[in-house]
Amino acid sequence: MEQPGEIKKVSMAVIKRLPKYYKCLGELLRKNAERVSSQELSKLLGFTASQIRQDLNNFGEFGQQGYGYNVSQLYKEVSKILGLNTSHKMILIGAGNLGQALANYTGFTTHGFNIIAIFDTNASLVGRKIKDIPIYHVEDMEYFINKNDVDIAVLTVPRDETEKIVKALMKTGVRGIWNFTPAEININNTNIVVENVHLIDSLLTLSYHINESWLQERLLKQKR
Ligand code: NAI
Repeated sequence: MEQPGEIKKVSMAVIKRLPKYYKCLGELLRKNAERVSSQELSKLLGFTASQIRQDLNNFGEFGQQGYGYNVSQLYKEVSKILGLNTSHKMILIGAGNLGQALANYTGFTTHGFNIIAIFDTNASLVGRKIKDIPIYHVEDMEYFINKNDVDIAVLTVPRDETEKIVKALMKTGVRGIWNFTPAEININNTNIVVENVHLIDSLLTLSYHINESWLQERLLKQKR
C-alpha cells in the first residue's frame, strides 16, 4: 500500500498518453475552452471516456461529476506531472546533421527545454555557434555539466562513440539522456533516466498501416 509522501507508480501506458493530454488541453486553451468532459476528450483523443477518467485519477481528483474538467486547471496539473513547471537545461553532444537540426528547432524552448551548449570533437565546428548556442570540445563536457547544473544530455553522436560519452555522463549530475543513437544504453544502478528516440520505428508503423489499408482495399475489390 502507498505510504504518505510516497510517489504513486504510474504505468508506462499512462505516461505515454500524458503528452497527448497535454497537447489536446493546450489546443483547447488556445480556443478559450473553459471546461471539457471526458466524453469530449474521448472524441478528441480517441481513448474511451472511462480510460481518460482512470488515467487522470492516477494523479488526483481533477474532474467533477456533471461539470467535467476545468481546462486551465487540468492543463496546469498535467504540465506539473510532466515536469514542465520548471525549465530544463540541456546540452547536445554531436553537432552533425541531426544535432544541428535539433539545435535549430525552436519548439523545445516553448516547453522550457533550453539547449545551452553543444559538444563535438570536430575542430572545424568547435568555437562556432548554432543559433547563439556555443559549440565546445567534448573534453570540456563534464566540467560544463557540473558547473551549469545541466539536467538533460541529448546524444547525436555516431553509434560507436555512445558508450564513451555515456561513461563520461555517468560521472556528472545529469538526470536524463535523450538518446537518438542506435546504440543500446545500459546504465543500471544510476539515477539517470534514458529515453530512446528512433524515427525508424514511427516510419515502420506508418508502413504497417499503409500496407494494412492496401490489403483491405485489395480484399474489397476481390469481393466485388
Ligand atoms: P553526423 O556524422 O552528421 O554527426 C555526428 C557528429 O558527432 C559529428 O559532428 C561528429 O564530429 C560528432 N562526434 C563524433 N564523435 C564524437 C564524440 N566522441 N563526442 C562528441 N561529438 C562527436 O551524424 P548524424 O547523421 O547527425 O547522426 C548522428 C546520430 O544520430 C547517429 O548515431 C545516427 O545513427 C543517429 N540518428 C538517429 C535517428 C533517430 O531516429 N533516432 C535519425 C538520424 C540519425
